[in-house]
Amino acid sequence: MKAFALAHPNIALVKYWGKRDFAYNLPGAGSLSLTLGGLSTRTCVEFDAALDADSLQLDGKAVESGGKLKRVSQFLDLVRERAGISQHARVISENDFPTGAGLASSASGFAALALAATTAAGLELSATELSILARRGSGSAARSLFGGYVEMNDGVYAIGEDGTKVATRSAEEASKAAYARQIAPAAHWDLRCVIAVTSAGEKDIGSTEGMVSTQNTSPYYEQWIASVPGDIERAAAAVAARDFAALAEVAEASCLRMHASAMGADPGIIYWNATTVALIHAVRKARAGGLPVFFTIDAGPQVKVFCPAEALDECRALLAGTQGVRQILEAHPGEGARLCGDFVSDA
Ligand code: DP6
Repeated sequence: MKAFALAHPNIALVKYWGKRDFAYNLPGAGSLSLTLGGLSTRTCVEFDAALDADSLQLDGKAVESGGKLKRVSQFLDLVRERAGISQHARVISENDFPTGAGLASSASGFAALALAATTAAGLELSATELSILARRGSGSAARSLFGGYVEMNDGVYAIGEDGTKVATRSAEEASKAAYARQIAPAAHWDLRCVIAVTSAGEKDIGSTEGMVSTQNTSPYYEQWIASVPGDIERAAAAVAARDFAALAEVAEASCLRMHASAMGADPGIIYWNATTVALIHAVRKARAGGLPVFFTIDAGPQVKVFCPAEALDECRALLAGTQGVRQILEAHPGEGARLCGDFVSDA
C-alpha cells in the first residue's frame, strides 16, 4: 500500500481564476496550460493501519498541523472513500524547485498525490478520472496529469455517448465533466519558459483566497469569466499552428484581465512588485524590437517569460539584465504525471 509518483508544475496561458462551486472545486471557466519539464514534485504515499492520523512531510519538514495538512487529509478522504479503505497515510513530498518561486506547487503537488495515493490504495484510475480527482485538491492540478499543451474544461457541458454536448444539471454531474486533456504533446512545440523570481517570500494572498475575494467583491469578475472561452479558442488555435505572435497576444491579455479582475476586488489584490512591472515593460519592448517573448504572471510577483528554444539565451539575458531579478529558472515542455521509483528518478 505504498506508491511513488512524479508530476511537473504547469503554467496557464489562459488563466483559471474563480470557482463555480466550492464543494466540488469547479472552475468558473476553462483554462489552457503548458506542463513544465525540468521542475518536479515527487510524492510517496503509504497507507498504514498502525497510523492514527495522516502525516505529511514537505521538503524534508514535518507539517504538524494547519491548512496544508488538513487539505491533504481531506483529499486522502476522497481516495479512501473511493477505495473503501480506512487506513491513514504517511505522505512525503519533495519539490526540486523553490516553493517561493510562485510555481503553483499545488498543481504538481496534488497531481502527484492523486496518482500516488490512488495507486497505494489499489485503485487503477484513467488519466481523466485522475484529473477529476486532482481538481478536487487544486484546480490547476487537474492539468498537471497531462504532458505538453493542456486544456481544462469547466464542466458546464459533458460529452454524450454520441459525441454531442449535453448540459450538466448539478455540481455533481459537472464535477464528472470538469477535467483536463492534452491538446498537443510536449514535442509539438519547443517553447521555453524562463522564470524570473522577483521576491523570495511566500505569497501574501494564496490563489484560492484571491479568487474567492475576486468573485465575491470585484465588479469585473463576470466580464473576466465571459472573456475566457474566446481566449481558450484563440490560444488552442495558436498552439495548433505554432503561431508565437498569436499566442503572445492572447496569453498576455488573459493574464492582464485576470489581474485586472483581482485588482477590482474590495480591497484590491495586487500581486505585483516594482520588478514585476519593470519586466512587463522590458518584455514588451524586446518584443517590439523583434525578440519573440511574452510574459505571464500568476498569483504572485514572479514573471514567467515564454520564448521559442532558439531565443532562450537572449530571453535569459533580458531577464538577468532587469534590476531586481533575484533568480532565474528555466523549464521546457514536460510530460504528464507518472509513477516513479524511490526519490531517485528521471525528471
Ligand atoms: C493564478 O489551482 O492554485 O495559477 O483550485 O483553489 O487550488 P485552487 O487554485 P489554484 O489556482 C491557480 C491560479 C493561477 C492560474 C492558473 O494556474 O490557471
